[in-house]
Amino acid sequence: MKTKQFYVVVAILFAVCVLVIHHHMAYIWPTYNGHVGTMGHVAPISHGVSNIQPTTDVKKAPLRHSVSSIQPTTSRKTVSHFKDVPDMTLTVRMSSNVASLLNFFFCTMLKSLTLYWSGQLGPLGLILDKDSQDDHKFAENLQKYQEQIGINMSFYYEPLPINKRVLTVAKGRSHGYNRQLYSSFIMDKFISTPIVAWIDTDGKFTTPVARDNILTRNKLRVKGMDTFQYSWLKSWNRFTEQMIGKPMPSDFMTFFPVYIWRDTITNCRNYILKYLNVSTIEEAYIQVGSLEPTAPVSSVNIIMTYAFYFEKERYDWHIDIGNVDLQKYNKLHLIPGHELTSSDLTPDFHVTLHDKYYKDDKNIVNRQAYCAAVNNTVRNLEHNIKQMCEAFKTNEMWVLFEFCNKVKQEHLTTWCKNKNKHCSSMIKEHYDKTGQLVNKGVYNLDLKKLKVVEEAAKFHNVECQPFL
Ligand SMILES: *[C@@H]1O[C@H](CO)[C@@H](O)[C@H](O)[C@H]1NC(C)=O
Ligand SMILES: *[C@@H]1O[C@H](CO)[C@@H](O)[C@H](O)[C@H]1NC(C)=O
Ligand SMILES: *[C@@H]1O[C@H](CO)[C@@H](O)[C@H](O)[C@H]1NC(C)=O
Repeated sequence: MKTKQFYVVVAILFAVCVLVIHHHMAYIWPTYNGHVGTMGHVAPISHGVSNIQPTTDVKKAPLRHSVSSIQPTTSRKTVSHFKDVPDMTLTVRMSSNVASLLNFFFCTMLKSLTLYWSGQLGPLGLILDKDSQDDHKFAENLQKYQEQIGINMSFYYEPLPINKRVLTVAKGRSHGYNRQLYSSFIMDKFISTPIVAWIDTDGKFTTPVARDNILTRNKLRVKGMDTFQYSWLKSWNRFTEQMIGKPMPSDFMTFFPVYIWRDTITNCRNYILKYLNVSTIEEAYIQVGSLEPTAPVSSVNIIMTYAFYFEKERYDWHIDIGNVDLQKYNKLHLIPGHELTSSDLTPDFHVTLHDKYYKDDKNIVNRQAYCAAVNNTVRNLEHNIKQMCEAFKTNEMWVLFEFCNKVKQEHLTTWCKNKNKHCSSMIKEHYDKTGQLVNKGVYNLDLKKLKVVEEAAKFHNVECQPFL
């Protein structure tokens, strides 16, 4: 091994160790019990389950009946620029009782989506803990700001699982984290739009979202990446095989939002029940979850692996297999009859990055992203913003091909090696499209809305760093 590579490996191992220790602290340390809605990423932080017990009627009622929503999904068809895009809900599994979690939610996610997610695409939907008073208060406060932010919000309250063993089955995972993982398999019981656009609390938008970032004709875009070198992939893959009997064709925990047809979740759950011969998803979770109580699980990978094997035609796949030969990759990761073909490997970029795993100490990304979004648009800029953007005048948004940098998840050494022309033109085309959306007012890029988010965050004593 070359010296440089050796140091990179050591650095990665060190980072993983830190994350693992951090993770263990999360459930030993009694006051630090929050999750970041990480869908099974490297270092899940747990979230505490409130000690308020659900009422008995919740236990008996089918889940659907216990769902309540403050703000119903509105009919946006008449006004939308995205008329031919099926309705979607930008969906977050959230729990409001931990400061670090609230910080990510307001300062990272809500601020960035306020600028770069159009309310015309669909509302923000938050799935909360029904048994948490704090979550109800959180929703009440947040809802007051939806008009000023320009994105409608829907709140859903998920009761505690009927079988409480779901919460304790894996001792290496806290109650909250177990609950969150299990929750991923029942999102369709809450979200009613045909598309669930699933994102973590620490997802950060880096560009306005255009139709083409979501759909190719009528297929939902999926990105995947070969990250099989990481240790946690082994356990993610084992859990996926336990749940649906198929290996992960790729790592799908490498982009947000993950656009999923709502009924894919229903179908996946029904398949799991059949495959494991159980009658509820709780039983399935308990059965599989107890096999390896300390190993990490990734629900998004289970659902998207299901989509790959059983609904491949409904999605448009963009899988980065790195610099590995396709035949070799297929031999390693796919099963006969389901091999990837070259049409599954075309490059695609990201509209978000995973903030918790992205180091940007000097806050360059937000500035660069904003300057790129307003570039070549009719939007009038304040003097100080103009000045700020001078520094990025000749900057191309290569960040769009990155997702994490603390753990390497990017396409700059694979699809976009040597910052090639193909990727460069993808960036340009994208900003041509979003520029038009800005000029039409679909995105107003109004920085005043960030102040509104700050105002909303004050209720929870959250103070964000300056966005730009
Ligand atoms: C949000 O909801 C309101 C009231 O239901 C509706 O009039 C408005 O058009 C919605 N806004 C968006 C951006 O969908
Ligand atoms: C499935 O489970 C039921 C009830 O637990 C049992 O009677 C049946 O034999 C099982 N079927 C298979 C194929 O394992
Ligand atoms: C702004 O647009 C020009 C011309 O298309 C391009 O060369 C430049 O990279 C863009 N700047 C940013 C910050 O994206």
